[in-house]
Amino acid sequence: MVRFEFFYYKHTQIFPPSSIFAPLLFDIMHRSHTCGELRSTHIGQSVTLSGWVQRSRDLGGMTFVDLRDRYGITQLVFNLDTDESLCLAARKLGREFVVKATGKVVERSSKNAKMPTGDIEIIVEKMEVLNAAKTPPFTIEDESDGGDDLRMQWRFLDLRRNPLRNNLMLRHQLGIETRKYLDSLSFLEIETPYLIKSTPEGARDFVVPSRMNPSQFYALPQSPQTFKQLLMVSGYDRYYQIVRCFRDEDLRADRQPEFTQIDCEMAFVEQEDILNTFEGLVRHLFKTVKNFDIASVPRMLYADAMHHYGSDKPDIRFAMKFKYLNDLMKGKGFNVFDSAETVIGIVAPGCANYTRKQVDELTEWVKRPQIGAKGLVYCMCNEDGTFKSSVDKFYSQEDWKAIAEKAGAKAGDLILVLSGDLHTTRKQLNELRLLMGTRLGLRNPEVFAPLWVLDFPLLEWSEDTGRWHAMHHPFTSPKPDQIHLLDTTPGEVNANAYDFVINGVEVGGGSIRIHDREVQSRMFKLLGFSDEEAKAQFGFLLNAFEYGAPPHGGIAFGFDRLCSLFGGSESIRDFIAFPKNNSGRDVMIDAPSPISEEQLKELAIRVNAE
Ligand code: AMO
Repeated sequence: MVRFEFFYYKHTQIFPPSSIFAPLLFDIMHRSHTCGELRSTHIGQSVTLSGWVQRSRDLGGMTFVDLRDRYGITQLVFNLDTDESLCLAARKLGREFVVKATGKVVERSSKNAKMPTGDIEIIVEKMEVLNAAKTPPFTIEDESDGGDDLRMQWRFLDLRRNPLRNNLMLRHQLGIETRKYLDSLSFLEIETPYLIKSTPEGARDFVVPSRMNPSQFYALPQSPQTFKQLLMVSGYDRYYQIVRCFRDEDLRADRQPEFTQIDCEMAFVEQEDILNTFEGLVRHLFKTVKNFDIASVPRMLYADAMHHYGSDKPDIRFAMKFKYLNDLMKGKGFNVFDSAETVIGIVAPGCANYTRKQVDELTEWVKRPQIGAKGLVYCMCNEDGTFKSSVDKFYSQEDWKAIAEKAGAKAGDLILVLSGDLHTTRKQLNELRLLMGTRLGLRNPEVFAPLWVLDFPLLEWSEDTGRWHAMHHPFTSPKPDQIHLLDTTPGEVNANAYDFVINGVEVGGGSIRIHDREVQSRMFKLLGFSDEEAKAQFGFLLNAFEYGAPPHGGIAFGFDRLCSLFGGSESIRDFIAFPKNNSGRDVMIDAPSPISEEQLKELAIRVNAE
C-alpha cells in the first residue's frame, strides 16, 4: 500500500485521502495496530501495541494495564502464573510510561460496553518500556483534577486528554471539509506574507523590528485583506487561505491575539453571489461534520437586528424580542422613565413565579459594572389576570394590562424593563435577554440558528478621536445608491457589508469592496487621511486600482469560533493546540519574555528603564 501511495502521488501530484488507507499502516517495528482498533474479529491474532500507561491494577495473580494512544485504550493482561518476571515488570509501570507490548488478542470474560475495545484484551507475552515518565501534575482523564492554569502550563500533557484531542480532530475535519468545498468551486489557496506594513485602522498591530532596517518595523497581519484584494487585481478570481491573523486587542473567551481565519475573496461577484457561496460552505460543513441539515439561512438588516435584539449578532434560537414601551410607560409620573430617551422591555415566558429574591438578584445582575444599568423594573403577569410590579405606585392594573398586551405577555410571564439612552439601553437589554435565554434553556448548543446580518453602516463616529472610522474596514463599498450621501450625511450611508452569525456568535464578516480609485480616495478623505497619508499607507493598493481592478468582494470566517461552535463550547481556547491566556501569555513557554541587551542593540531598540 505504501508503494501505491507513492504511485498515486507521482501521477496525481496530490496525496491520496487517508480514508483510502483506513486502517492506517503503521511502522511494524513498534505497533501492528492502534490502541483503539482491536475488536472481537481480531481474537486469536498476535499483535503489537505501543502507547502510554493510563492506569494499572493488580488483582491477585493478574495485573491489568490500560494502554492509551490517540485512537483509544486497550486492556493489557499480565498473568503471574504464566510469566512471573513479566508480571512483576508490569507492576512497576507508572502512569504515562511509554510501553510497547506484544501478545494475543483474547475475548474478555467481563466485557466493558463503554469502551470500543471492551470486548477484548491482550494477553501480553513481551513488553518493552520505551520510556519512563515522571508522575504528571494532574490526571490525564476526561475529567481532570488539574485546574485551568496548571493545565495551560502543562499543555502538552493536557492535549493527551480525550476532550482536547476530540476538539483538535474536529478542527482538522473542519479544515479538510473547508478545503474540499472551496477547491470544488475552483478557489485557489494562496499564502500571503506575515511580515507586512503597520496600518493605523482596525485593532492594534503586533510589530516586529527589522534588524536590517534599523528603527523600522513590520507588522503581523490583522488579516490578509489588502493582499487578497491585490490578488483579485492579479486575476486570481477565487482565493482562499486558512490563515493565522494577529490582533493586539483585549482578550475574551472568543478572542485570541493570534487566531485563524478562513479568508476568502472573489472577483466578478455581487453581494448575492458571496452570500450564496458561503452559505454553501457553512451548509457543507454542518452536513459533513455534524450531519445537520441547514435549510435556507435567514437574512436580517443590521438596523432590524439592533431594533429587535439590541445586537448586531442576535441569537435567534429564541424570540424574546424587544418591545418599545415609550408610549405606555412614559408620562405616568415615574421620573426614571419620564426622563429617559427610551423604555424597552422583554418578556420572560413562564417566569411570573420568580421570587422576590430571584428578581432582586436579576436587578443586581444588570447593575453590575459590566452591564451598567441603573435598575430594573419588573412585572409579574399573574395567572389570575392581576399584575404585580416593582413600580405599582405609578402604574395601575389597567396600565399593566395595556403594557402586557403590547409586549405580548401572557398570564404566567414576567416583563422586564430597562430605560435610558437608546444605544445603552439596547446593549444592556441584549445582555439580559441572553441571560434569560440561557436560564430558560433556550440556548441549547446542539441547536444551530445561522443568520446573515446585512447592510451595516459604513462608518461610525468616534468621540475619542473626533472622526469617522470604518465600521468594517476602509475598503468596504458604500451602497451604490447612497454614495452621494458621503459628502453630506456620511453617518447615514450603509455598506455592502455582511456578517455571518450562528447562535449569537459572529463567525464571519465581509463586504463588497471599493474597486474604483476615486471612491476609495473619497473614503480615505472621510476617514481623515490626507492624500499624502493615504498614499504612504495604502499607495500600493490605490496604485493597483489603476491597473484594472475587477469588481470584487469577500468574507473571512473565524475558524476557531466555528470550531468551538461545532464543538458546543464558548471558549475558542479549547480548540487551539497552544493558546494564550487572558493576559496574552503562553504560560507553557513563558512568552512574551524580555530579550537580551545584545538583541535590543542589534535591533536598534532602546528600552526606557522606567
Ligand atoms: P473581521 O475583522 O470581521 O473581518 O474578522 C473576520 C472573523 O474573524 C473572527 N475574529 C476573531 N477570532 C478570534 N479571535 C479574534 N481576536 C478575532 N477577531 C476576529 C471573527 C470575525 O467574524 N478582512 C476582513 C474580512 C473581509 O472583509 O473579508 C476581516 O478580517 O469570527
